[in-house]
Amino acid sequence: MRIPAKGMDEAALFGAMAAYREHDLDTKGGRTWAYVYDPGRPDVDRIAKRALVEWYDENALDPTVFPSLLRFENEVVGMARTHLRGGPDVVGHFTSGGTESCMMAVKSARDRARELRPDLDRPTMVLPVTAHPAFHKGAHYFDVEVVTVPVDTTTWKVDPEVMAGAVDDRTILMVASAVSYAHGVVDPVPELGALALERDLLFHVDGCIGGFVLPYFRRLGEPVTDFDFSVPGVTSMSMDFHKYAYCPKGASLVLYRDASIRRHQLYAKAAWTGYTVINTTFQSTKSGGPLAATWAVLNYVGDDGFLDIAARTLAARKEIVAGVDTIPELEVMGTPESNLVALTSATGPGGADLVNVFDVVDRMRTHRWFVQPQLGFAGSKANIHLSIGGASLPLVPELIEDFRTAVAEAVAAPTPAADPAIVELLAGLDPDALDAATFDALLEGAGIGASADGGTDLPDEGTAGINAILDVCPAPLAERLLVEYFNRLYVPPRD
Ligand SMILES: Cc1ncc(COP(=O)(O)O)c(C=O)c1O
Repeated sequence: MRIPAKGMDEAALFGAMAAYREHDLDTKGGRTWAYVYDPGRPDVDRIAKRALVEWYDENALDPTVFPSLLRFENEVVGMARTHLRGGPDVVGHFTSGGTESCMMAVKSARDRARELRPDLDRPTMVLPVTAHPAFHKGAHYFDVEVVTVPVDTTTWKVDPEVMAGAVDDRTILMVASAVSYAHGVVDPVPELGALALERDLLFHVDGCIGGFVLPYFRRLGEPVTDFDFSVPGVTSMSMDFHKYAYCPKGASLVLYRDASIRRHQLYAKAAWTGYTVINTTFQSTKSGGPLAATWAVLNYVGDDGFLDIAARTLAARKEIVAGVDTIPELEVMGTPESNLVALTSATGPGGADLVNVFDVVDRMRTHRWFVQPQLGFAGSKANIHLSIGGASLPLVPELIEDFRTAVAEAVAAPTPAADPAIVELLAGLDPDALDAATFDALLEGAGIGASADGGTDLPDEGTAGINAILDVCPAPLAERLLVEYFNRLYVPPRD
């Protein structure tokens, strides 16, 4: 591979790129139930793309030379603060995504602890097992120890008393979700806020996926637990625009109760030979496009537009839950409070699953739906995730009928479950003691062996086999297998 000696002409170039995209999921139309967010309004997309392109070249590294970006950011933060019922002291920053927002909250907590508690050498943060991996990633990057606590396996929410039991004098931060990705429920934020105040702790509420839509669901009459800055004790929040505010990817926000906490997020460097660096987020040079597009979409759609999209989304969720109730082999996990739903297998009299949900995921793919597999963990069984949005409603009847068919097919001709001998073997493996050849063999066994050009193939026969193996692996082994897989997947093609 090398840069072509002569540049391609535009038509050939885009023709080649379109061919690369042949197997990509559809981003619009509502058949993809994770990763992409379709408001069901092409005009929103048009506005977002226009602003994205018009500002893509401006650099948010230095707002003094691109003052429009400073203005956009302060106004976007202001709108979000009102949406999340924050007072005039609440401040924040636009970030590149939910993970960056959550990681910034961890960094701020760590740097604040370093300043206020210089003798604390091994800080910890307490998370429910349902908290997004972004917090574990933040802990890993910023050297904070994670203490995870279980959640109730019926409601999928953390019990404040269990959380209180995990907090000690090393704790610098508590986290709750509004809503959790896996089950779409809100943790008991008011009780956790009281705990945070009592123990004088920072408390982050992760509203990355739920924070934007929940206030609309409340206005539509849903019983939404208080989860935002109206709750005393909440000190920071994250909320993504690139999910249910339907902005282009690269658009999220972290908010703090006041600037004295937010100060710890900022980074400045004058001690070098070049331009002065002052960064609000991870990135230094960053396109102004996503921020401009967020400002544009919020102002274009408006509150009434978002309420309308939320009403269609809520109607779709209700229809999906009711439809799944008519399929005896499937059940909804917990009581979804936002627009995310997890479907798992019902159990038979002996306690065995009635259907293999990973098998159902693959069969749905043949019916041209992408529904997302989620592995079992900490009492939460293997399940199918659906992110419901503004384009979902008209598709629900067809979705439910195809689920019915896919379940019937998976019951009639199930893909074989993981071999018990393999399960036993995997359970006993220490990932740190395995060599490259053993990982090659394990990946081969999972159906993702080496490809002809030296990399690793993407699975083309469905993912049920891989998921079955990952589902029975202890988490450290599954994590290591995933790393080994990606380490083989991302390799340049050989000539
Ligand atoms: C609750 C929650 N937090 C954080 C994230 C991470 O967001 P991103 O994928 O934008 O980094 C997600 C993503 O779905 C999420 O659902």
